[in-house]
Amino acid sequence: MPQKKLTRRQAEEAVDCVNKHATVGEKFPAAVAAKELNLNPRTLTNRLIRAKEYFDLDSLYGVPGDIKASIPETSPELELPEQEQDYERLCELRAKKFDHARAYEDVRKLIPVKLPYKGSCIGILAFGDLHLDDDGCDLALARAHAKLVREFGDGGPANGCYAISIGDHLNNWQGALAKKYASQSTTLAEGHVLVQGFLQELSGHWLCILGGNHDEWGTLKYFLDKIARDCGTRYIDSAAGLELKFPGGNTVRLRLAHQLPGSSIYAMAHSQTRDNIFRYRWEVVMSGHVHKSGYAVLKQEDTQIISHCIQIASYEIYSEYARGKQMKDAHISPCAFLVINSNLPNTHPDMIKLFWDPVEGADWLAFLQKKYDG
Ligand SMILES: [Fe+2]
Repeated sequence: MPQKKLTRRQAEEAVDCVNKHATVGEKFPAAVAAKELNLNPRTLTNRLIRAKEYFDLDSLYGVPGDIKASIPETSPELELPEQEQDYERLCELRAKKFDHARAYEDVRKLIPVKLPYKGSCIGILAFGDLHLDDDGCDLALARAHAKLVREFGDGGPANGCYAISIGDHLNNWQGALAKKYASQSTTLAEGHVLVQGFLQELSGHWLCILGGNHDEWGTLKYFLDKIARDCGTRYIDSAAGLELKFPGGNTVRLRLAHQLPGSSIYAMAHSQTRDNIFRYRWEVVMSGHVHKSGYAVLKQEDTQIISHCIQIASYEIYSEYARGKQMKDAHISPCAFLVINSNLPNTHPDMIKLFWDPVEGADWLAFLQKKYDG
């Protein structure tokens, strides 16, 4: 393996450091310099030799005999480049990493979505928390809803019927909670088969797959990311904004989050309403996590936009946790089905209609597509 090229900066650094210690009378200046520069003594020796060879830089100590003496002549030599611990290079790498993180965070706030359906009316089935490996999950209903999206109209991804997953695909117990696998009949491996199979049922129909808190534990997120890409979409942890552009020029912005802060015993869609008032004043704000259903419609006084704030529940109909806490049953539906009629402006109260039952929503969507899109 060829030796890594020494930069002039590295050469000067090595020579200057040795000279600094030599001029103050240090007995073993090169050894002290190697320690200060956090270099192996053999590496420093090589740098001093190459500093002379490449850049004609002399160290006051010359080739450090004290170091040479400490290395047996017969020691094996490894042709291995130095590990990249160089400060400047690390800073460069960190800067690139930060630029990438900033670009990702900026874009995910509002991601433009190209819809394969070319008409003006679409449906979106937002799946609530799936928890597919939980014994209390109504998997049959989730699959029936997936089939409805997949087979709507002419079938296929261009049928104008799409899906969103709001996160928590599996229980995915980790750490101290891993003991909970003892009280559920689905194993970790079976859970992986279930989530892959289910997400693939809607390959080509996903607008996005959000990660919930359960998905973010351990390494499940990497598996979900791979599945999402194989299904033609992306896995996005926690939250994302989607901007749907319609043929007539209308746009609808969806603010999606697994979890939003805030709660109220008087308003099940409190956290989404709060988010809509104080943060994203878009057409739709949706989140899951609490396994309850709620809905509020707001009007933005300045823009006149009508906003739909939706709390989506879960396909985990029976929950050990909710039973233990004796939580109030506020489950209207495991999902939310939105029908968007882009022929109407986003100030129209009926541009977006929420259906708790996707079967009813699909009927309305079929009517609109026939009426407006032929
Ligand atoms: Fe959940």
